[in-house]
Amino acid sequence: MTSKSSKKKPPKKLWGGRFSVATHAFVEQFTQSVSYDQRLYHCDIMGSIAHARMLVHVRVLTKNEGEKIVKGLQAIESEIGQGRFKWDTAQEDVHMNIESALIARIGEVGKKLHTGRSRNDQVATDIRLYLRAEVDLIRQLLTAVMTAMLDLAEREIDTIMPGYTHLQTAQPITFGHHVMAWFEMMYRDSLRLEDCRNRIDVLPLGAGALAGTSYPIDREYTAKLLGFGAIAENSLDAVSDRDFAIEFCNCAALIMMHLSRCSEELVLWLSQQFAFIELDDAWCTGSSIMPQKKNPDIPELVRGKTGRVYGHLMALLTLMKAQPLAYNRDNQEDKLSLFDTVDTVKGCLQAYIGMIPSITVRADNMRTAAQRGYATATDLADYLVRKQVPFRDAHAISGEAVQYAIARNKDLSELTLRELQQFSKKIAKDVFACLTLEGSIAARAHIGGTAPVQIRKAIKRGRQRLKKLQRNEEASE
Ligand code: ARG
Repeated sequence: MTSKSSKKKPPKKLWGGRFSVATHAFVEQFTQSVSYDQRLYHCDIMGSIAHARMLVHVRVLTKNEGEKIVKGLQAIESEIGQGRFKWDTAQEDVHMNIESALIARIGEVGKKLHTGRSRNDQVATDIRLYLRAEVDLIRQLLTAVMTAMLDLAEREIDTIMPGYTHLQTAQPITFGHHVMAWFEMMYRDSLRLEDCRNRIDVLPLGAGALAGTSYPIDREYTAKLLGFGAIAENSLDAVSDRDFAIEFCNCAALIMMHLSRCSEELVLWLSQQFAFIELDDAWCTGSSIMPQKKNPDIPELVRGKTGRVYGHLMALLTLMKAQPLAYNRDNQEDKLSLFDTVDTVKGCLQAYIGMIPSITVRADNMRTAAQRGYATATDLADYLVRKQVPFRDAHAISGEAVQYAIARNKDLSELTLRELQQFSKKIAKDVFACLTLEGSIAARAHIGGTAPVQIRKAIKRGRQRLKKLQRNEEASE
């Protein structure tokens, strides 16, 4: 590569003072981040306005200077909002694009904005402001997904289906109970984000490049203006810490893992072999060759996107690995992973918010499948235990009865009393009440069990828990 730049007079860079030649065109392209970090513009301007106001507050800037800066920044913000702003890769990143536009707009006084600040504490502040707002949005989306799940569970409280372990028919459950298991996963995700938000909500501004600043800044004042709950305690840590971004990606990875599990079940249930549910046509797509196909692309894509989010978590962990204190340019790369994680999780949650209400259940098929799989064998054993047979013996007796029924292609409940009595004399007519699917389900009536009376209560508690989450959200905003 030739050094195209050496003959040219250096163009104006905000940091250009000690440079005698212009930046190589390749370097300019390689180091720029404005093509993607421009999405931080609102947070960057918010942070700059707070910083300028703080500088006025501590009399480093005059009131008049502060006002000019704030007005200039506000004008730039609306220009960007209207799509009239010209982003320039020669100005490297969102911060320098906005600062140089400010100087161009308001002149000399614009050059005072960066007093007592560095891009290192500036970018850390921007990402935290950005992520804090996104976490609040994601929590709202999670609440909407959970509400859709509660509604679906409520609709299907009494719908019987086979419950599985090892994907083998295990015991009868209700579809409502199954959906409430999904709800629990999402609820933990929301709590995790609530906790993660506390570590995002910390102000780095004031740390300067790494060592703080010699100006009499008032960091508490800035924190109050930006609504930060805490101030970063150590300037070296403040500019270099990206734990909060990794933690967020971890929360996101868990959300995606949960959604991928739900998606896998939806895909299975939508197959002709299961045929447990149907999805509205609006939420499926077709095949370009096979006219009969109606494919579950939405859950498949959600399942597929999970890998992307895991990748971003790994990318950020690796980005930070072995970085010496304090700020290193490596950190510029954090945004690509972070932004895509935010976009992907939001998209997938939105997909679920739309898709869940469009699920219809084929209760007949679910019931037939539960009946076919000897799902009440445990109930027969439990029945014998109630008749004083030790559980291990009861287990063996029930197993023999299952073997006998399989050989005759019958369900346990279809055996005659006489047939059942071959395996134990303790079996009486009342056995049939617990061999039915309804009997099996109704028997599990403790907290956390699949009995419809319990699911009804769980749904009620679920709605209360969501209300509490929303109250916490409002309190933290
Ligand atoms: N664009 C940079 C980033 O995203 C901003 C901080 C640059 N700091 C520096 N000393 N070059 O990390």
